[in-house]
Amino acid sequence: MLRFGVLGAGRIGKVHARTIAASGKAKVAYLADAIPKAAADLAAEVGAKVASVEDIIKAKDVDAILIATPTPFHADQIEAGSNAGKPVLCEKPVSLSVERIEQCLKIVEKNKTTLMIGFNRRFDPSFAALQKRLRDGAVGSVEMATIISRDPGPPPMDYVKLSGGLFRDMMIHDLDLARFLVGEEFTVVNALGASLVDKAIGAAGDVDTAAVHMQTASGKICVITNSRRATYGYDQRIEVHGSKGMLRAGNIHNTTVEVATADGFHGDPILHFFTERYGQAYASEVLTFIDAVTTGKSVAPSGHDGLQAQKLADAATQSWATGSPVKVV
Ligand SMILES: NC(=O)c1ccc[n+]([C@@H]2O[C@H](COP(=O)([O-])OP(=O)(O)OC[C@H]3O[C@@H](n4cnc5c(N)ncnc54)[C@H](O)[C@@H]3O)[C@@H](O)[C@H]2O)c1
Repeated sequence: MLRFGVLGAGRIGKVHARTIAASGKAKVAYLADAIPKAAADLAAEVGAKVASVEDIIKAKDVDAILIATPTPFHADQIEAGSNAGKPVLCEKPVSLSVERIEQCLKIVEKNKTTLMIGFNRRFDPSFAALQKRLRDGAVGSVEMATIISRDPGPPPMDYVKLSGGLFRDMMIHDLDLARFLVGEEFTVVNALGASLVDKAIGAAGDVDTAAVHMQTASGKICVITNSRRATYGYDQRIEVHGSKGMLRAGNIHNTTVEVATADGFHGDPILHFFTERYGQAYASEVLTFIDAVTTGKSVAPSGHDGLQAQKLADAATQSWATGSPVKVV
C-alpha cells in the first residue's frame, strides 16, 4: 500500500485524494492545507491525518507526495519532496517561470527521483486511444493537428489576475496535448488573442479568446483554438490529419438520448466542466503514477514535458504581445 502525503485540499486536491483512497493500492496517509478546516474535512473523508507540509515531506511513513497547492508553491514543494528522496506527482504547471522550472528539474535530476506532471488530458480515454491509434499508424504520418478547447465561462477576475494569462494557465493543457499527439517538438509559435468575452480580462492585460499556430522543424502543423466562453458547455475536441486519413475525438454528452421532431434532432448538453469531463482522466493519471512508483516504471508526462509546454506558453504569450512569430529553442 503506497502511502501518500497530499498537499492542498482544494478543488483538484479533493479529486486526487478521493482517487487514492478508492484505489485499493494506495492510501492518503497525511494531508496538508493552508486552511485547517479544508485539510480536516478532506482528511476525515479519506481516512488521513492532518500535518504540515514540512512534516509530511520528511515523514518516514510517507512514500510519495501529491502536490495540489496553488502554482506558486509547486517548484519549492517538488524540490523539497525530491530532496527527501520521494516520488512526486505535481499538478500543472511546475512554475510560470521557465528558469524556475529548469532549476527545479536540475534538483530532481541530481536526486534521481520520480516527477510526474498532471497533464490530465493525456489520460482521457478517448484522447489516449486516439494517440495510440496515431502511433500505431492508423492514419499514416501526422501532418496537422487541430485542438479546440473552450471553457463554459470565464474564471473570477481574482483568478485571472494571478493566473499568468490564458496561454500559461489554460492553453498549457493544449500545448502539452499538441506535443503528445504530434510527437515532435514545435519550433515556431504564432499567436492571436483578444478580449471578446469580458473587457475586464483585457484591461487586466490578458485575453479570453486565442488561436495559436505552431510548426515542427519537419513541417507538421498544430492549430489550437481557445475561448473562456462556450454557451453549450466545456468544448473539448481534437482532430489529427495524416497521410492516410483522419482521427478525431469529440465531446461527451450527459446522456446519448436524442429527441427528434419536425424541428430537428436535439441531444443532451455536453459535460459541463473539467471535473465532470476529465473525471476518468484524473483517476487514470493518479493510478498510472501509483503503478509506475510501485513497479519502478518511468513516468509520463515528466518534468521535461512540463518545461516544454511552459516554453510554448511563453512563446505564445510573446507572439500575441508582439504580433510576430516566436522561435522556440
Ligand atoms: N490538471 C487540471 O485540470 C487542473 C485543474 C484545476 C487545478 N489545477 C492546478 O492545481 C493547482 C490547485 O488548483 P485548485 O483549483 O485545486 O486550487 P484551490 O484554490 O481550489 O486549492 C488549493 C488549495 O491549496 C491550499 N493552499 C494554499 N497554499 C498552500 C500551501 N502553501 N500549503 C498547503 N496548502 C496550501 C488552499 O488553501 C486551497 O485549499 C493549481 O496549480 C492549478 O493550476 C489543475
